[in-house]
Amino acid sequence: MREVAIIGVGMVECGELWEKSLRTIWAGAALAALEDAGVDSVDHITVGCMSPGLFVGQEHLASLLADELGMAGVAATRVESACASGGLALRAGIAEVASGLADVVLVSGVEKMTDVDGADATYALGSAADQEWEGFHGITFPGLYAMMARAHMAHHGTTSRQLAAVAAKNHANGLLNPHAQFHLKVSIDDVLASTMVADPLHLLDCSPITDGAAAVLLMPLARAKDLAGRRPVVRVTGSGMATDTITLANREDLARLRAVELAGERAYTMAGKGPRDIHVAEVHDCFTIAEIMATEALGFFAAGEGGTAAEAGSTALGGKLPINTSGGLKAKGHPVGATGVAQVVEIVTQLRGEAGQRQVSGATVGLTQNMGGSGGSSIVHIMEVE
Ligand code: COA
Repeated sequence: MREVAIIGVGMVECGELWEKSLRTIWAGAALAALEDAGVDSVDHITVGCMSPGLFVGQEHLASLLADELGMAGVAATRVESACASGGLALRAGIAEVASGLADVVLVSGVEKMTDVDGADATYALGSAADQEWEGFHGITFPGLYAMMARAHMAHHGTTSRQLAAVAAKNHANGLLNPHAQFHLKVSIDDVLASTMVADPLHLLDCSPITDGAAAVLLMPLARAKDLAGRRPVVRVTGSGMATDTITLANREDLARLRAVELAGERAYTMAGKGPRDIHVAEVHDCFTIAEIMATEALGFFAAGEGGTAAEAGSTALGGKLPINTSGGLKAKGHPVGATGVAQVVEIVTQLRGEAGQRQVSGATVGLTQNMGGSGGSSIVHIMEVE
């Protein structure tokens, strides 16, 4: 396999982008990544998008987007693994470059979620749960994660205050990210006082409904080094993917994310690294409990200690292991198909030393963890400065 480098990154500001269409948002991110890399042609485009059919009535997306960029003719593939579609797009792009099928791959993610109202957005998101055993009975994603939070509280004594600490930290980080949906200072008490959505998850424990897009450019490491000049080159050293039962009722333990554990183990093995080698990470905090469970599943903290670590500031900027320096899904926003790629944009920015006020000093090894639905799939990548 050839070694793969990320040579360009780009994303658009996340938010309620009513005046822009899906293709316009996507093109903004794609052009930014191409410009950042100094490249104007690609062999293959991968697009992570969860549900363009339900959100904007558009399928056949990859060809449409290649054409939007004036690149009709290139190979283009859309991949889907619910909210982990962006991570899967990166993995698909890595496979293209590593195998030699393609040299230059534009990896992208996009979702336009606000063209439908809240009920339709909830329905579209719910299609990533088990429709027969969960969706048809009225369960929503806040409800699924609320059950996981209750199990974590029962097994480990995790508290609502610890959940709220995750939201407060990620909103503080989001204040430093110009691409974030919310630039909003939020305290632990603000979170606890916000509307209850699905007990024990308050409004401010939830990620929002977001429009957004992100893109990164891949090429073989040797070629990237020639092109980069004095700029740091970031190499993808580990990629792991795993699945779990989608139906929560079929899981042995609701307080564990088995797909994240397996994807993490696979990525660590491929990279020859372990949890202690990671300097900065973006994990899938679609709800505050998800960040706590992911940091345990990835081995950053022992089972049951993720909440205590968040409350103690271990995962804040300046802490032992800064998590979600971008603001995470909570504050940066969660345009579902774009999220996995946006996480990579943040880690590459950190590893290049270009993260400004939210820079983690000396970061040379970073990790992204993207999750589909309530943990039915997960994808982990490890990146290092060359
Ligand atoms: N965090 C912070 N503020 C939020 C927010 C969030 N998650 N969601 C909405 N808001 C704000 C809005 O900006 C708005 O503020 P304003 O009145 O100042 O303009 C206000 O809260 C009401 O927004 P609205 O869109 O009416 O909220 P809602 O009640 O329809 O939706 C949720 C709130 C939590 C139900 C919705 O954001 C949601 O479903 N989130 C989860 C998304 C999800 O499941 N993703 C997939 C995960 S696997």
